[in-house]
Amino acid sequence: MIGFCMTGSFCSFSKSLAVLLKLAEKYEILPIMSENAYFLDTKFGKAEDFRKKVEDICKKQIVRTIPDAEPIGPSVVLDCLVVCPCTGNTLSKVALGITDTAATMAIKAQLRNCRPVLVALATNDGLSGSAPNIAKLLQRKNVFFVPFAQDSPFKKKNSLVCDFEKVRDALDAALMGEQIQPILAT
Ligand SMILES: Cc1cc2nc3c(=O)[nH]c(=O)nc-3n(C[C@H](O)[C@H](O)[C@H](O)COP(=O)(O)O)c2cc1C
Repeated sequence: MIGFCMTGSFCSFSKSLAVLLKLAEKYEILPIMSENAYFLDTKFGKAEDFRKKVEDICKKQIVRTIPDAEPIGPSVVLDCLVVCPCTGNTLSKVALGITDTAATMAIKAQLRNCRPVLVALATNDGLSGSAPNIAKLLQRKNVFFVPFAQDSPFKKKNSLVCDFEKVRDALDAALMGEQIQPILAT
């Protein structure tokens, strides 16, 4: 089973749902959402609509609290945990050992088991505030990245976004304990 954890990069939700739909054709998926992803309505859509789509695709209730996510450590075996989309917030917390959401709890639990986590990054501060934390996770065992790049270098000079088209190939590699290359998307 694959874990699919969505965090609050709301502009990436439609692309992430397209990825989820494809993954669900091949894998049993355990859906997980950070509390912000689960509850917040934004200009990109209503939380309830996104939740329904995710649960319809996965045919499972969304893991959305720290106690819900805790069993991923001792009892729920995930072959890989895909964090898609992954905010700078969630990525930075994980890099710094902070566990205060369902998403960070799921990631912590998966890493406790020495199993792979695949990060599909989308953050406006990838080349500023989150940069040191991205660097930390690049060196962390069992953490892999979907290839990423600057998405709008002149309008949003610090923004980094992964290539959502490459999630499936990156997952195949992560399942074998490998980082897909090149990690910097072109
Ligand atoms: C409309 C909207 C879009 C956002 N897009 C992003 C984004 O693309 N990347 C990001 O890192 N944060 C983004 N944020 C900020 C996160 O939602 C915020 O940091 C939140 O605390 C993330 O919590 P989580 O990581 O627990 O889901 C956005 C917020 C809003 C309201």
